[in-house]
Amino acid sequence: MAGELLGGRVCLITGSSRGIGLGIARVFADNGAIVTLHGRDKATLSQSLASLPESFKHDYIAADLSTLEGSKKLAERLIRLNEKLDVLVHCAGILGPKTPLAAYPHKDWDEVIWVNLTVPFILTQEILPMLRKGDRPSIIFISSGVGRLGRAEWGAYAVSKFGVEGLTQVWAQELRGENIRVNAVNPGGTRTQMRAAAYPEEDPMILPTPEDIAPVFVWLARADTEINGQSLEARDWIGRDPAT
Ligand SMILES: NC(=O)c1ccc[n+]([C@@H]2O[C@H](COP(=O)([O-])OP(=O)(O)OC[C@H]3O[C@@H](n4cnc5c(N)ncnc54)[C@H](OP(=O)(O)O)[C@@H]3O)[C@@H](O)[C@H]2O)c1
Repeated sequence: MAGELLGGRVCLITGSSRGIGLGIARVFADNGAIVTLHGRDKATLSQSLASLPESFKHDYIAADLSTLEGSKKLAERLIRLNEKLDVLVHCAGILGPKTPLAAYPHKDWDEVIWVNLTVPFILTQEILPMLRKGDRPSIIFISSGVGRLGRAEWGAYAVSKFGVEGLTQVWAQELRGENIRVNAVNPGGTRTQMRAAAYPEEDPMILPTPEDIAPVFVWLARADTEINGQSLEARDWIGRDPAT
């Protein structure tokens, strides 16, 4: 997929130390983007950075998003790295326990709703001034199949992803007049640590890799894509050329 579809576009991908976020980061970098990786652990981030094409062009920020301070730290560090931002992908997320609601621990509920839903809201607020300086900016939220149709025992995770779908639509309407596009993507089952934790009995080799599902993200990140306020399926884009 190498090319210049995202030539010079400045991108932050939260939760890109591994998994889907890192796969998107690699493919963005391969398409000429300048990427900031994010996660909690500097040593992991340093290794992830080294795996990007032309890694010297890119950077990372370590910040724990389980606290408000962590979100603010991420936004503050980003401003020190770049004056503007063209693409923001909210990939950081946690699964929480797979437990019936009747027994779902309140502490886990708060943590999952915070990391998966409240942080993407707050971080978008914090980073909006940088996006306003960007070139035809694009914000991409990560949804899930269980964020469209509830599923027993997926608790706060499912509810947080329903919230992400709503957050996408409200931001999209509010930012339309500023030419900032906001869309959501459901990755579908993808070969990552989170998926393995959710389905320990599944053979991961039957699943697409994070790089396989990246074309829709590249297409949404392009400066000349028009779509706004939509929720897309990454699986529909596997093998498709995001240049078309
Ligand atoms: N994999 C799937 O099949 C699938 C399907 C549908 C939706 N999704 C969604 O896709 C997104 C990525 O999932 P994934 O499968 O790639 O998950 P993953 O492999 O578990 O990676 C999660 C990422 O989020 C970061 N993260 C988690 N908690 C954090 C915190 N408190 N502060 C900062 N960073 C934190 C992790 O960084 P650390 O290095 O700090 O741990 C890591 O980079 C999530 O929003 C998930 O809900 C995944």
